[in-house]
This record gives sequence, structure tokens and C-alpha cells, in this order.
Amino acid sequence: MSYIRSAWYVAGWDTEIAQRAILERRLLDENVVMFRDEGGAPRAVSGVCPHRYASLAMGRLDNGVLHCAYHGLGFDGGGACVHNPFGAVPKTMRLKTYPVVERHSALWIWMGEADGADPAAIPDFAFNDPAASWVGKGYLNVKASYELEIENILDLSHIQFLHPTTLGSGEVANGTYEWKQDGEFIWSNRTVFGEVMVPELAQAMGVPVGEKADRWINVRWQAPSNLVIFAGAVPAGRPQAEGRETPTAHLFTPETATSSHYWFSIAFPRAMGPQGEELANREVEFLKVPFETDDLPMLEQQQCNLGGKTLRETSLGWLPGDAAGARARNMIYARIDAEAESAASAGDHMPASIGA
Ligand code: FES
Ligand SMILES: [Fe+2]
Repeated sequence: MSYIRSAWYVAGWDTEIAQRAILERRLLDENVVMFRDEGGAPRAVSGVCPHRYASLAMGRLDNGVLHCAYHGLGFDGGGACVHNPFGAVPKTMRLKTYPVVERHSALWIWMGEADGADPAAIPDFAFNDPAASWVGKGYLNVKASYELEIENILDLSHIQFLHPTTLGSGEVANGTYEWKQDGEFIWSNRTVFGEVMVPELAQAMGVPVGEKADRWINVRWQAPSNLVIFAGAVPAGRPQAEGRETPTAHLFTPETATSSHYWFSIAFPRAMGPQGEELANREVEFLKVPFETDDLPMLEQQQCNLGGKTLRETSLGWLPGDAAGARARNMIYARIDAEAESAASAGDHMPASIGA
């Protein structure tokens, strides 16, 4: 499986690496460990010790130095070996390092060549900044590809059928739908009219429980797999400007070709005070139930049914809701192919003495 490498992926919530804790993740088929250095800045390095391939997550962190549990070599956040209990520090034993930035309540990691990592290109999830919002955060590990996850969020026609008693209603198919590409973004926008939502959704959107409402559900995708659902509602017939929009982040990172990390969140303005904090904590737990009990088994079974093929290698049916996901996947594949071509042409210029 190939992935876009020159891109910012989410590697975890910022709260997942507490001072002195070592967090291990498999990302794009590579073992990565993350920790905070002495100054508190996040660091990401290969999780495999270059001496005998021990897992560094089994080691310990001491004053910003990661000590291997097997023979005691120590590595700093820059990947250099800085401690050898048996003598001189071996300069050739280095860890691969990954640029990592803490922003918008998340840890963003760059999986490509480090000199291409521009923090200005980190996707805008400012609504998740803790200074501005109460953020309820969740995580699921899903045994399905990130492509299936992207299609799941970009085609929310499924909420009527897969989540009929939580996120959906019988009115969804009667609403309006459009998708569009706007530069690097894909938008998949849906509006549902005159539906009675379950109390938790109505409360999240600030509309009266048990009464008809008009709900908009607008999804934004940005490569490789960072999505937002901007959703809000107003009492039926009222203008959208009177409603409160609640953004939910849906951040996917491939773990392997057939499994994904899924970080999700819901944000409410800090200005709401304790009510906003209570809503953020309660609503993220509400969302987790359909994600875990409906979507997760559906996606994992889809992955099984693909029988070892990727979506790109598979002949698929077509419904109107598929267009946004298909465009997103084609944009991903174009970048994967461009990176492969670029790597191949770099190989063309490899000196014969190295290539032999
Ligand atoms: S395997 Fe890590 S020090 Fe030997
Ligand atoms: Fe779903």
C-alpha cells in the first residue's frame, strides 16, 4: 500500500503525551514513538532501536532521553545516540525523526522528507483550539482502510439507514445535497428539513427538543484524510444565521493498509462557559456510540469483503452520494502517483556506484 507521504497527518491528541510518557503508534506502516522533550515540546522518532530492533516504547524516558530497554542505548529527540553504557557513543546509530507540531489540540506529524515540512500547511482546525473552545475528544482504532473512512464521512446519506435512532432520521433522503471541489477542499453539503432529532442532537445544536428543525450538515475534506463536519440547526423555517454551528473533527491516519486511527471531536465556544464544557464532554460520548456500534463494524466488514484488494483496485457501484468521496480518493491517488514518479526520477540520477 502506498500513501501520500508529504503531508501532515494527525498522530494523536495533544493530551496523549503527558510529560515523561512514551506514546507508541504505528503510522503508515511505520513504528513511531512520541514524547515530550525537556522543554515540553513534542518529539517523534522511529520506535525501533537501530542496535537490535528492540521496541523503544518498552524503554524509559529520562530528562528527554529515550533509553532502550534491551541494552541501554539512549537517544535524544533529534534521533542522536547520546548514551552508551558500554563506551563511546556510536555516532552511526541514529533514529529516524519526524517533524511533529502541536496545534489545534492535536499532534500533527509529517511522514515525508523533513525538509518539506512547512507548519503553515497544517490544516486549519482552529475551532479546536483550547483557548477558543471546549473540545470533547475521542479515539477509535478501526480495522478498515482510511479510504473507507473518508467515504463514510463524505457520504452522510448513510445516517438515515445506519444510525436511524441517533444521528439520522427518515427525512435525510428528502433533503438537498450538493458537493463541490474548492481548490484543495472537497465539500459535501446536505440540508434536511422539518426533522425531529433525538434530544442529544437537538441539545447540541441548540434547538427545542421534540420539535421540527432544519439541519445543515456540511463536510469538508482536505488531503490526506482530515475532515470536518460543520453541522447546525434552526427551528423549521428559520434562517440558518439564527442557528449555532457545532464543528466535529474526523481525523484519520492510516495505521496499516487495512487499519486506521480515528480521532474525533466536538467543539463548543468557550464563551458558553460551564454549559459548553458539559456539552462537549457529554456530546462526544453520545457521538462515540454510533461511531463504535454502527460505523465501526460496518467498515470492518467492508474491509473483510474487499478480500485483500484496495478500493482503487475494486470495481464499485455508484450512487449520487459517492461523487465527493470518489473525487477525494482520486486526488489522493494523483498525489501518491506524483510522489512515486518524483522518487523514481530521483532514482534515475542515482550515481552508478550507489545504485550497483
Ligand atoms: S536493541 Fe536497543 S540497545 Fe540493543
Ligand atoms: Fe456514520
